Amino acid sequence: AGTLGAAAAQSGRYFGTAIASGKLGDSAYTTIANREFDMVTAENEMKIDATEPNRGQFNFTSGDRVYNWAVQNGKRVRGHTLAWHSQQPGWMQSLSGSSLRQAMIDHINGVMGHYKGKIYAWDVVNEAYADSGGGRRDSNLQRTGNDWIEVAFRTARAADPAAKLCYNDYNIDNWTWAKTQGVYNMVRDFKSRGVPIDCVGLQSHFNSNSPYNSNYRTTIQSFAALGVDVQITELDIQGGSATTYANVVNDCLAVPRCTGITVWGVRDSDSWLGANTTPLLFDSSGNKKAAYTAVLNAL
Ligand code: XIL
Repeated sequence: AGTLGAAAAQSGRYFGTAIASGKLGDSAYTTIANREFDMVTAENEMKIDATEPNRGQFNFTSGDRVYNWAVQNGKRVRGHTLAWHSQQPGWMQSLSGSSLRQAMIDHINGVMGHYKGKIYAWDVVNEAYADSGGGRRDSNLQRTGNDWIEVAFRTARAADPAAKLCYNDYNIDNWTWAKTQGVYNMVRDFKSRGVPIDCVGLQSHFNSNSPYNSNYRTTIQSFAALGVDVQITELDIQGGSATTYANVVNDCLAVPRCTGITVWGVRDSDSWLGANTTPLLFDSSGNKKAAYTAVLNAL
C-alpha cells in the first residue's frame, strides 16, 4: 500500500493524525493529511475550553470544522477530550466539589450528545495520574472525590453507547514505571467491577526524558490482556528516529488489540513541540522523512 492509512488497513488498523482547524485552509497541509491518514483527532477543538466556553453554553464551531473535514474525506474521528485538568475554561477552573462534579457530568453529556453516534472512540478522561508515585494527579477534578473517573466513564457510556471509551495518558508506555502500573491497576479494577471502559490510549510522546523502551510491547500486551483495546493516540518522537518509529509500529502490530496509531501532527512545522524537534513523519516542507518510510514498511 502506498499510504499510511491504506497500509494500516491491511491489518484492520487505522493510521491517524491530529488536525488543527486553523490549518484547513493550507492546501499543502490538507493534501498530505487527506492522502495519508484515515483517522482524525482534533488537536484542540473538542477540548473543554473550546466546546463549553461559558457554563451551559456549548460551541461546536471549530470542533465541527475538524469533524466535517474528516468525514467529508472519508475518515473516522477520535474524540479528545472530555475530563482533564488542563485546558479547562476559566469558569470550570474556579469550581470545586459537587458543582464541579455536576459540571463535568453536564459537559460530557453536552459534547457526547452533540457527536452522538459519530465518534469512533472518546478520550473520556485525560492525564489523571501523577508523573511519579503511581497515584492520582492532584487537580480540581481529583479533589471532587476519587470516584470522579468512574463517574465520567459511566456518564459517557450512557451519553453515547456507540463510542469506545478510552483512558488516555502520557508516560504510561514504559512497563516498569509506577505511573504505568497505577493506570494498569485502575483499568484492572474497572474491568473487575464493571465500570465501562473499552480502551487505553498511550499518548507516546517520546523524548530523551521519556524514551521509547523495548518493554513497550509488554505494556501494550498487558493492557490488552485486561480486555481493552489499546490505541497509540499522540505519537511523536523527538529527533524523529526511523528505527524507533518502526519499533513502535512493530509493537502495535504484535498485539491484535492494538487497533491503531495516531501521530500528533502532520509536518514537523505542525508539531506542538516546535519544528526544531523534528518529531513527525513529514518535514516542514511536506517531504516524507526516513521515519515515514520506516513506518510504511513496518505496517
Ligand atoms: C496539545 C496541543 O497539541 C497544543 O496545540 C496545545 O497548545 C496544548 O495541547 N497531551 C494531550 C494533548 O492530551 O491534548 C496535548 O495537545 C498534548 C499533550
